[in-house]
Amino acid sequence: MTKRLSGTQKQQILEMLKLGASRHVIADKLGVTPGQVSAVAAHLTMGTYTRPPEPAPGAGSSQFSPASREAKAPGLPPSIPPASGIFVGLDTSDETPVYWNPASEEGSANPHVLILGESGYGKTYATSCLLAELANSNVPSVIFDYGQGFSPETLDPVFRDQARPVHFELSRDGIAINPLEIFPVDIHGPATVAQRIADTFARVYPRIGVQQHAAIRRAVLEVLADSGIKQHDRATWGARPPHFRNVERKLADLAEQPASPVRRVALAAASHISTLFVFDTFRSTGRKLSWNDLIGPQEAHTWILQLGGLESSVERTVTEFLLWNLIRFVEARGPGKLRCFVVLDEAHKMSFSPGSPVEKLLREGRKFGLGLILASQQPEDFSPVAFANTATKIVFQVSDERGVISRKLSRKTKNREIGLAAADVITKLPRGSAYVVTENAGRIVTISSFEQRLARWSRPELRQFALSRTKEAQEDA
Ligand SMILES: Nc1ncnc2c1ncn2[C@@H]1O[C@H](COP(=O)(O)OP(=O)(O)OP(=O)(O)O)[C@@H](O)[C@H]1O
Ligand SMILES: [Mg+2]
Repeated sequence: MTKRLSGTQKQQILEMLKLGASRHVIADKLGVTPGQVSAVAAHLTMGTYTRPPEPAPGAGSSQFSPASREAKAPGLPPSIPPASGIFVGLDTSDETPVYWNPASEEGSANPHVLILGESGYGKTYATSCLLAELANSNVPSVIFDYGQGFSPETLDPVFRDQARPVHFELSRDGIAINPLEIFPVDIHGPATVAQRIADTFARVYPRIGVQQHAAIRRAVLEVLADSGIKQHDRATWGARPPHFRNVERKLADLAEQPASPVRRVALAAASHISTLFVFDTFRSTGRKLSWNDLIGPQEAHTWILQLGGLESSVERTVTEFLLWNLIRFVEARGPGKLRCFVVLDEAHKMSFSPGSPVEKLLREGRKFGLGLILASQQPEDFSPVAFANTATKIVFQVSDERGVISRKLSRKTKNREIGLAAADVITKLPRGSAYVVTENAGRIVTISSFEQRLARWSRPELRQFALSRTKEAQEDA
């Protein structure tokens, strides 16, 4: 005879049903019959269970319940006060708010977020929502935009109002940042800069081998020395660096010297990196990016660095040099609290290899107050370091035939069962809903829309705006 279901089992079944798990998966996981699952499902459909049944005394919290259900029951204050957490959306199981706490001091949690999901399911939208919420909490962000995701005409008016975006048309206007600049934290001065530039080019152009790498390094050192910045003389390191384009010219010079042993290598290196100089993106007449204006004490803004229209290798090179520039800037300021978020919405464009700025941000960004939001369509777009160093994951619908993603998620949750249930869920999530793992708890969350967020923000003019939008929508309907 089948054993009667305990209160705890009923609760677990209900929660797995809400997670979208199938009858057979639930029966299998909980050691009950599919018929018993159907019976509970029928009660749910008929509305007999308006609330999950109380767990049996001493049963502890359910393995499928969010970490702090008692604090998250409807009507009670959220477990993390909004002042210290970023509102993500509503838990689909009980409509309670879910927060992401990037400044959490608990355990080894880092502020980084990994967003994964197929095209059109809401990665960019969710990112915009988080950035608006961050700006609302006075945390600025900088977005590297390669497409149309954050172009002025596509921005939601609520985002525009709340995130206070500032657009930089860098592909068109150029950037007044010089990769040859030596920062105080570049302890070996010109040698550090030369290595960084050669490494960056080698990551972007994989056909640059050891010899070409050495030729680029040499060219950088010579260019710096030509303008009086000498390796052996620290007093010269703070001088104004020469134009970046001189590196290409130097390589061309080396290639033209008939007696030079590096002639052929210099020629090959010059031809690889020449595309960057065709666009002449780094130029003193370009847009000035003063990180102080982003990270300083003023009202938080969201910088949108528009890089679309550049050749893809140039996009990557420019992003890497800009990231190095930002990293060096915050390192020079020393360790500090959360200062800024860096957003790579199309993370597949970037290298995650050891020594890359993205890897450095993932490993050390927290120390210097830099958080990273990475979004991409395929799990393969992210390195193992990216999976391991993002305490928060937002997974939209994605195919997971071999269970790779759900296994990775389960490793991040307190209870592996949650992650296993995710395997059944993440392939069926509707647009705008995501499996969110944060603070080691996994939940299905509806990412609240901008209109829904407006009601949560207290500014009266925004409320007014929300009302007018709702009215417009009603009129349209
Ligand atoms: N949480 C949401 N609430 C309301 N609308 C949403 C939500 N998520 C997504 N949408 C709608 O779906 C559209 C597509 O979403 P989005 O651009 O974020 O997809 P994506 O995952 O970034 O796709 P891609 O990989 O192609 O860039 C949005 O423009 C928006 O209209
Ligand atoms: Mg997108």
